[in-house]
Amino acid sequence: MTDRRAFLKTLAGTAPAILLNPFPVLSAEINHAEPVDIGEVRSLDIRCVSETGWFDTGIIAGDVRKAGGPGINQYGIPFTAENSGGYSALITVENLNGNKSRYLLDSGWGNDWMDYAFRKSGVDAYLEQNRIKGLILSHDHNDHFWGIESTLKHCPDIPLYYPATFHKKSINLLDGTDYSSVPGNPRNRFPHKGPRTPVKPGELCMLQPGFAVVDFDVDIPLGVRGECAIYVKVKDKGYVVITGCGHPGICSLFDFAAARLKGGQNIYGCYGGLHIAPFERWEPRMQASIECMKDAGIKKVACNHCTGRIWVEKAMNAGLPVVQGTDAFRSYYRISTAALKGGANPYIGNGDSIVF
Ligand SMILES: [Fe+2]
Ligand SMILES: [Fe+2]
Repeated sequence: MTDRRAFLKTLAGTAPAILLNPFPVLSAEINHAEPVDIGEVRSLDIRCVSETGWFDTGIIAGDVRKAGGPGINQYGIPFTAENSGGYSALITVENLNGNKSRYLLDSGWGNDWMDYAFRKSGVDAYLEQNRIKGLILSHDHNDHFWGIESTLKHCPDIPLYYPATFHKKSINLLDGTDYSSVPGNPRNRFPHKGPRTPVKPGELCMLQPGFAVVDFDVDIPLGVRGECAIYVKVKDKGYVVITGCGHPGICSLFDFAAARLKGGQNIYGCYGGLHIAPFERWEPRMQASIECMKDAGIKKVACNHCTGRIWVEKAMNAGLPVVQGTDAFRSYYRISTAALKGGANPYIGNGDSIVF
């Protein structure tokens, strides 16, 4: 096996992320209690600000391989700066009383791309007008977190929610201190000044009725630990599971809902990266994620980012309701090497919105 293939195999999750606590609990007190009623929202709207983690997979694969492989901590890797994209989504929930609240999920990677994507999505204005209630950082992978300056320069006091297992250097980045001298590593000239909520593994962090954040204690390549997923319960529909990369595995996220949340067997939809075939190599074990979605009776699959087009094709052929999209942000000077001609996309892409 070549070095490149070995790298892709590992990073793609052939050796899956290790779930350190295989079945997270909400807290010691309610571990054995009845499933929790988190309340409901009337509707949920998610705008894809950016699902383009990086523009060229060959370049990021080469950067990581040259630095020593996916076991190396990301803060020591000289990434090619022009290759950095980033993941971010704008989440709008309508409460049962009709009021709307916005949350930002992740702040992407390359500041130039994220500034562009925020401008195209109107996120920059919402931030400056204090119309976003919080920034939820799913995990501190470079493509989700290293673009933090693009958010904080507009709103340095935004409330933050992030895995309690965040790396020390990631906390330093929030504080605007301890810049790495490694080329392609991030900086933050706008220290975060607002409230911070580290979400403890397995605990249920309620941001409002019907909207909960849960951290799953998983070991993730490049020295990252823990990823938060979001559970939103939409009235008369069911739960929507929102992910950044989905490193814990979508079936584990469904299992958590079924075991710990009232009515959690009813999964209405999902949004975000599923980290199944990010490097477009199909393996038979990936079929399990299709089967568990079919078993759940899911109504809307809005996957993107690190899911893999090859998985999407298989999922559609298996009859799963994958939501189609476009790829609207093409006036930027770079376009992903994975982009299809004509702005088409087999899944929700940059600039698309979906209502649950
Ligand atoms: Fe990612
Ligand atoms: Fe990730």
